[in-house]
Formats: sequence, C-alpha cells, structure tokens
Amino acid sequence: MQSKISQYTSEIEAFEPKTAEELEAFRIKFLGTKGIIKDLFDEFKAVSPEEKRVLGKVLNQFKQLAEAKFNDFKDSFSGESQNKADGEDLTLPGEGFELGGRHPLSLVRKEIVEIFKRLGFVVAEGPEIEDDWHNFSALNFPEEHPARDMQDTFFVAPIPGENVDQEKKGEYALRTHTSSVQVRLMEAGKPPFRALMPGRVYRNEAISARAHCFFHQVEGLYVDENVSFADLKQTLYYFVQELYGEGTKVRFRPSYFPFTEPSAEMDISCTICKGAGCQMCKYTGWVEILGCGMIDPNVLENVGIDSKKYTGFAFGMGIERITNLKYQIKDLRLFSENDIRFLKQFQTEII
Ligand code: PHE
Repeated sequence: MQSKISQYTSEIEAFEPKTAEELEAFRIKFLGTKGIIKDLFDEFKAVSPEEKRVLGKVLNQFKQLAEAKFNDFKDSFSGESQNKADGEDLTLPGEGFELGGRHPLSLVRKEIVEIFKRLGFVVAEGPEIEDDWHNFSALNFPEEHPARDMQDTFFVAPIPGENVDQEKKGEYALRTHTSSVQVRLMEAGKPPFRALMPGRVYRNEAISARAHCFFHQVEGLYVDENVSFADLKQTLYYFVQELYGEGTKVRFRPSYFPFTEPSAEMDISCTICKGAGCQMCKYTGWVEILGCGMIDPNVLENVGIDSKKYTGFAFGMGIERITNLKYQIKDLRLFSENDIRFLKQFQTEII
C-alpha cells in the first residue's frame, strides 16, 4: 500500500491539466466515488492496528494532496466547463431590468389623493371627451353666457359611425375642467358625496412656459346636509398644512364661478420665499392654488338633488401649479416632453 501511495503521489504532483476534461478525468480517477482514494481507504480497513497508525497519516496526507491539486485548477476552467449550456456563457451578467420612476405629476397627484383619503374622500373619474351638458350647462353656464369664454374650448366632431346621442351631435368637446365629473357623480348617485376627481383637462391656449393646451386638475366635492363654508375652509386648510407643512398660511379672495355661490380663490403663503417675495409669487408673498365655493343650488337641482335639504362645497386645483410650488419647475412644457434628464430627478419612489 505504501508503495502504491508514493507512486500515485508522484503522479499527482506531476499532473498539470490543460483542459477541463483532463481535470475531470483526474477527479474521477482519484476523488470519485469509485476512485483510487476510496479503494485505498477500503484497503486500509483490513490492515493491522500497528500499521494503521503509520498508514493513517500517510493516507490522509495523500487525500489532501489530491484535493488540493483539484482545487488549484477547478476555477481556471469553471467558466468554460460547468457554465456552458448550449453555447451560452452563463457567467456573463444578466440583462438588467431597469425600473422606471414616477412622473412628478403622478407623485403629486398621489400625495393629494392620499391627504383627502384621510378625510374620507373617495376617487372618481370621468371621460375626457365630454358633452356640453356635463362640461357647461349642468354647471350653470347658460348658453351664450360669457363665462363659457373663460375656458377656451376644443370642440370635437363625433367619430363617424360612432354611436353618439343624435341630439347632442356637435356638442362634444375635450373637457375644460374636471367639474364635469362632479355632475356625472351626482347624477349617478344619492347624497352624501365626498369625492376627489383627478384628471387631464384641455384648453385652447398657445403653448408657452406658463400655459399649455392640456394640464391636470383635481376636483373635490362634498355634498351632505348642513355643509357650510366653514367646512370648506377647514378642509382646505388641513390639506395645505399636510401638503406644504404646518405654518403655511392660507387666504381666501372672493371670486366668480358659474357653478359656485359664493365663490373664492385660495392663496397660500409662497412656499419658496416663505412670504418674503420672490419671482414665483411675483413679490407678493402669496400664490393662488385653487378655486372653490359652495355649490350653486341650480347645479344641485340640475342633477336632481334637493337644494333645500342639501348643501355642498367644491374646489378645483391644477396639479401642475401644485407641483411647481413643490419642486420649483419654471417651465410647464417640461412635464410633457419626456426628457429623461428631467424625469430622472424624480425617481424617488418606485412601487
Ligand atoms: N373648475 C374650475 C376651473 O377649472 C375650478 C373650480 C372647481 C372652482 C370647483 C370652484 C369649484 O377653473
């Protein structure tokens, strides 16, 4: 046995594999389950106890030598042998799966929705192609009323062959505000209503840094018994504190919308200069963020709600404006140009 071991030892010492196959043959010959080392250990069982003492050590050293030799070369062929499947190199890095980020307008919309959800508002949506009734008439815009000019409307022809209401033919438009969704919601159900309606709206304006032919609004609606202007103020005050931080001031200025009476516009203290005066607030310390008011009883009656029993408030804000104040974006066009350098700056949250 001793002589066999020393013969194999020199064989192992001299062994220098050139290929993975040679190394594998070596492994099978010496270290395999039917290999030489296994045989030697079997033989070892039969020797006398005195011999065992000497041989045990020799045998163990021999085994370690064979293993060390195998390990020395194992890695040099690994890429070539074990990882090759059908000509593919499995050690190459995989193709990356890049996660995108959220658009800044989506981030802000989500934030707005979450704040109002905490007050029990649910989200509702409506179509972007709207008829005259939902966009104007039901909202107390009388025909030929100059208030219709407040919002430069894109009128659209019905798609030929499309199943349109014949009476309303020629009255379709891209919605100019999300107030149309209020009407749909109230027509479809019974009070109380507490809903938030985000969506895209369209106006026929020349595209510039400050205006675009489409933008996004979030409409809010609350109708129940005994809803008052104080509820409206408190709701919006809570919203502003949550969105822009405690201490942000609000002020209401009287305004006009056909569908609310009384109507107001709400300003907040400039989030950028904190009221000291800057370009964003045109050195006034205040920026307007939304229109609001108590729903005009005519609107409630138009959608079949008893205006003697129920009152309500509504508000509408532009998501772009809210986002600009948050991130100081000075050009509205950036939102729709899909410039990756712009969008990458908002990859803060991935869901
Ligand atoms: N719809 C109005 C606009 O687009 C905003 C608004 C909504 C005002 C609800 C009052 C109440 O300007």
